[in-house]
Amino acid sequence: MKPVSRSGRFAAGPAADVAAFSESISFDKRLWRQDIRGSIAHATMLRDVGILTARELQDIRGGLGAIGREIEAGTFAWRAELEDVHMNIEAELTRRVAAGAKLHTARSRNDQVALDMRLWLRDEIDGLSTELRDLQAAMVGMGSRHQDVLIPGYTHLQRAQPVWLAHHLLAYVEMLDRDLGRLADARRRANVCPLGSGAIAGTTLPIQRERVAELLGFVDAKGRARVTQNSMDGVSDRDFMVEFAAAAALVAIHLSRLAEDLILWVGSEFGFIRIADAYTTGSSLMPQKKNPDVAELVRGKSGRVVGNLMSLLTLLKGLPMTYNRDLQEDKERVFDTSDTVRASVRLMAAMLDHTEARPEACRAAASDPLLLATDLADYLVNRGMPFRQAHHVVGAVVGMAEKWGKRLDELALADFRSVDAAFGDDVLKVLDLDAAMARRNITGAPGTREVRKQLAAWRRKLGPRR
Ligand code: ARG
Repeated sequence: MKPVSRSGRFAAGPAADVAAFSESISFDKRLWRQDIRGSIAHATMLRDVGILTARELQDIRGGLGAIGREIEAGTFAWRAELEDVHMNIEAELTRRVAAGAKLHTARSRNDQVALDMRLWLRDEIDGLSTELRDLQAAMVGMGSRHQDVLIPGYTHLQRAQPVWLAHHLLAYVEMLDRDLGRLADARRRANVCPLGSGAIAGTTLPIQRERVAELLGFVDAKGRARVTQNSMDGVSDRDFMVEFAAAAALVAIHLSRLAEDLILWVGSEFGFIRIADAYTTGSSLMPQKKNPDVAELVRGKSGRVVGNLMSLLTLLKGLPMTYNRDLQEDKERVFDTSDTVRASVRLMAAMLDHTEARPEACRAAASDPLLLATDLADYLVNRGMPFRQAHHVVGAVVGMAEKWGKRLDELALADFRSVDAAFGDDVLKVLDLDAAMARRNITGAPGTREVRKQLAAWRRKLGPRR
């Protein structure tokens, strides 16, 4: 059988290497559910407007249903010479039921593929969003399990100020929340029905685009149909894919940063955490090694996700209106982005569920009184000293301690007062770690009460774990 689109005009099929070069069935067959769903909605509308008889609609529905079951069971024979998922399904339907030849009325593969991708993307965004919520819950869970674990917070990878481990993890929970917002936003713009755009210029047939949109759930919050408003835009717009690829790339970047933190923390130089054996691997040569490969792969895979975004943008740059075959190249990039990011999110959640802090090592690192040098400056501010001066005075104290090879809390009151008389006999209390953590209670600060409040708020917001 000749490929559907070539019948009539063409005397011969494409050369073998052309067929191999241009086929997309090897990767777009994963759109089969969306393709069948879209065809059933289209056929239902064609019946409504009298283009199909009730009997023809019934045959088409039955035929597509049977094909779907065979694809699901793995018994459907995909044919590479039929190019893509759309022609494979339609050709097989037409072979089985005569009415199949009417299915493509007022439709082109150009609006069909745009529809399939929008349907597919909606589902992927929903799936990824659920997985991101679960990853947030895993982070909140790890923070809650380790409510009493303090670590140094870092700037420039130098110890800066003490923070609860939970506070560090909640920073990522916030990032993922913005990611979820961006994905929801991308979903809103993808949730518009392009069917009816035809190849480029719609159709002269009296179809009802809104009806198809409603059947496929392309509706706004009030249940009103959302259809694309320009047929040329409808078949050539891939913005929704770029938006998804961009939002997903940012997810990947956030995961990569978290992965880097975990990789640092698990190394013996930090020794802050232990990752369960199941989420690490050994070395083929060095018997003592236990490597954080999952985290490293999450970090590494972010590269291809960023690459996919660049590929998509480059693909679209300079494309003349409207549909061009170049657009077939969009699929593997978004498929890969979705598969990679979703797997990374799932693996990261599972790994965090199997990661424990080593509280003593964390506490030891966080207990360096130098981390409270800023608190000392604040102490002087409370005694009326301008902050710039306080900063200078404490700097001098730190320099003195360093010269003497002493910790800040090993200095005597007289030592402090030798630098500035503003220090009182309560100065050493400033360096008490637990008291210091109790002092940080403004919104967003890593204070003991504030972090517990944030953890509780997130637990409430996220609800019970799936
Ligand atoms: N496989 C094609 C794609 O992914 C479907 C649309 C083909 N349209 C066309 N005019 N050749 O873009």
